[in-house]
Amino acid sequence: MSTPRKPRTLVTHPPAIELPPGNRPLVAPIYQSVKFETETVDDLLAMLRGEVKGFFYSRGKNPTTRQLELTLAGLQGREDAVVVGSGMAAVSLPLYGLLSAGDHVVSFIESYAPTRQALKGPLTRYGVTHTLLPVGDHAALEAVLASRPVKLVQFESPTNPMLRIADVERLCALCRQYGALSVMDNTFAGFHQYGQYPVDLFVHSLTKYASGHGDVLAGAVIGSAAMVQKLRSESVLIGCTLDPHAAFLVQRGLKTYFVRYQAQCRTAHELSAWLEQQAGVSRVLYPGLASHPQQALAAAQQQEFGTLNCVELAGGLAAATRFAEALELFAMTASLGSVDSLVNPPPFMKPMDLTPEQLAISGITPGMVRLSFGLEDIEDLRADLAQALAVASG
Ligand SMILES: Cc1ncc(COP(=O)(O)O)c(C=O)c1O
Repeated sequence: MSTPRKPRTLVTHPPAIELPPGNRPLVAPIYQSVKFETETVDDLLAMLRGEVKGFFYSRGKNPTTRQLELTLAGLQGREDAVVVGSGMAAVSLPLYGLLSAGDHVVSFIESYAPTRQALKGPLTRYGVTHTLLPVGDHAALEAVLASRPVKLVQFESPTNPMLRIADVERLCALCRQYGALSVMDNTFAGFHQYGQYPVDLFVHSLTKYASGHGDVLAGAVIGSAAMVQKLRSESVLIGCTLDPHAAFLVQRGLKTYFVRYQAQCRTAHELSAWLEQQAGVSRVLYPGLASHPQQALAAAQQQEFGTLNCVELAGGLAAATRFAEALELFAMTASLGSVDSLVNPPPFMKPMDLTPEQLAISGITPGMVRLSFGLEDIEDLRADLAQALAVASG
């Protein structure tokens, strides 16, 4: 436009800054735009028909979220990914997107409590039924798969919070044999693990290790191009799209994903081994320790064992509560996988929806806390744990 713009027009149509060819920013810009325009109606229609590439409306597709999707698909070793507004949205998307009334799902007693709640609440209302089994009970799983059509098997490894290990090869083989989709919530093990197994869809909370700094909620579903395309269409209708600014923060977090994950794993491993030797501690669950009941399976499947453990205090609920409250460097709150160390106190450990029988299967006891190890100096964390154990036993 040649005529100078009047102030009201200038603020709504600011000057476009074009970068000269070959002069790219090192960090991709955040495309914080809901809409993308085209020159002609024909261009728009061709784009909507998929004949030419382009962007139109960010609920469907946006360059910043797309960059993150492609990064995640590559990390997990799959064709494509769709990012959504939280880890729980990622858990829910295959359930809402792939199931219909009359379908049956198998999930596990040890899974993340809100996953079970989604199956027990909304999906039950929509006519989707489910069976909850212990994650290691392959005979029971096969009995269900053989007795009725099962559309989808949803599992985790390591499980939240008890760090049980699913035999992923066996689960996938049973799913293939009986024609069920395997959906693995891989939040705990991270993107660089479990990709070698024929899991149909991986689900991740990006809120944890991907962003790493506890300042953004996001989730992803990763799988074949065809399945992701189907889930993307569902996601656009549900409207659980990730905002570009959140996608940018996750993309930035991923740059340090490996160094963070590995350093936090080393701390978790060393302090788990140390905690096991301390007076007042009756049990430490960490998949990398010889004392973990499934250590051999964990070692066969994972190269790293994660940044969390579960600690049982000999003094039971009262001691575990005193321990969690006395910790100074471990923030008492939800979540995991960030650079700050965190503690889940006993009330957060006990899921409200399990029957006493299921609770016994889960292995959760009243004197347990879950620790998530961050990037603080390991000796400061050890000293903090030592002083909190002293308070707990006092
Ligand atoms: C295993 C697992 N899946 C999914 C979620 C949900 O993630 P978000 O908090 O990002 O919704 C969590 C959160 O703790 C989790 O631990």
